[in-house]
Amino acid sequence: MKNFWSKLDKPIYALAPMAGVADSAFRQICKDFGADVVYSEMVSATALAYHSKKTLELMKFAKKERPYVVQLFGAKPEHFAQAVKIVEKQIKPDGLDINFGCPVKKVQKQGAGAVLMNDMKLARRIVAAAIENTSLPVSIKIRSKVGNTTAVDFLKSLAGLEIKAVMIHGRSMAQGNSGEVDWKMIKRARPLVKGVLLANGGVGLTPSPSPSLERGVKADADWLLAKTGADGVGIGQGALGRPWIFQQLKIKNYQLRIKNADEKSRGAPPGASSKEEIFKVMLKHAKLAEKLKGQPGIVEMRKHLCWYVSGLPDAGALREKLVKAESSAQIKKIFYV
Ligand SMILES: Cc1cc2nc3c(=O)[nH]c(=O)nc-3n(C[C@H](O)[C@H](O)[C@H](O)COP(=O)(O)O)c2cc1C
Repeated sequence: MKNFWSKLDKPIYALAPMAGVADSAFRQICKDFGADVVYSEMVSATALAYHSKKTLELMKFAKKERPYVVQLFGAKPEHFAQAVKIVEKQIKPDGLDINFGCPVKKVQKQGAGAVLMNDMKLARRIVAAAIENTSLPVSIKIRSKVGNTTAVDFLKSLAGLEIKAVMIHGRSMAQGNSGEVDWKMIKRARPLVKGVLLANGGVGLTPSPSPSLERGVKADADWLLAKTGADGVGIGQGALGRPWIFQQLKIKNYQLRIKNADEKSRGAPPGASSKEEIFKVMLKHAKLAEKLKGQPGIVEMRKHLCWYVSGLPDAGALREKLVKAESSAQIKKIFYV
C-alpha cells in the first residue's frame, strides 16, 4: 500500500473538503499556489454503491491535483465497502477520507457525517469496512465535539484501525463553520493519532483564531501548529477568493513582509498585491471552470467571483456584474473595459 501521507514534507498545508466549492477547477488553482494535498467535495458512498454516474463525475480530477483525496460520506458500512472499491478502480485518487464532520440537515437525516461521532460502534464498522476493501490510505475528518462525544473519545473508539491521517475541525457540530477553535482538544487528541494530524479551523479568517497581535495567515497557521502539535493545517474558507493563501503560508517571514508592505488583511497574491493580479487568477479559474463544465461551470463559480473581489474598493459594483456573467469572455470584459 502506498501511503503518500507519510512522504509529505511538514508542515502540510491541505485544502479542506468543501462541497459545492472545492471542485477540480478550484483545487487546481490552489495546487498552483502550493497546496500540498487537496480533498474532493464530499461524495455519497450510497450513491456510489448504486452506481450513480453523476457521483463519478463529481470526483474526476486532473493529474496536477495529486496527491488528491476523495472524501466519502454515508451511514452504511456495506456501502463504504463497495464505494471504496469503485473509487479506487475508476477514479484512482491517492487517498480516501471519511466524513465525520458534516452538520448539514440532509446528511444528518441519513445518519451520516457529524452525527456518526455519537454512534461510535457504527463509525468503527464504517472505517473498518473502508480499510478492508481498499489498498489506498484511509483518513478521517472529525470535529472537536458532537453532542457529548469529544474528538478524544471518538479516536479512542477507533484504536487499532489503520487510519493514516486525521483532520480535526476544532469546532463542535453546534458551532458549524464559524466561531472559536478548540485547539486544546486537538492537542489532547495528538497522542491518539499515529499517522498525520491536521488541525483545521479559522486559518486566514477574521477574527483570527490566534490571540497573537501578529496578523495574517502565516501567524494563524504557525500558532495553530505550535499549540496543537499537529503535522499540518487544513484550510477551508480562508482559501475562498484567495487561493494564493497557500503561497503565503510557504513564504518564510511572510509576516514580516506583510508588515512592511502594509497589505490589507485579506491579502493578495504575494509579490503582486494589485487588483490586476487578482483578476488574472480569477480569469484563469473561470477559464478552467468553463473548460471543465461549460457554461454551467461559470454560473456555479459566480460565488467564487464574488469572493475574489470582496475587499476591493469597487466590490459592490463588480459583484453586480459578476453575478450575471455567463462566460469567461464576459468576465474578462467586466475588468478590461
Ligand atoms: C461551503 C463549505 C462546504 C464544506 N463542505 C465540506 C465537505 O464536503 N466535507 C467536510 O468534511 N467538510 C466540509 N466543510 C468544512 C470544511 O472542510 C472545514 O472543516 C471548515 O470550513 C472549517 O475550516 P475553516 O475555518 O478553515 O473554514 C465545508 C465548509 C464550507 C464552508
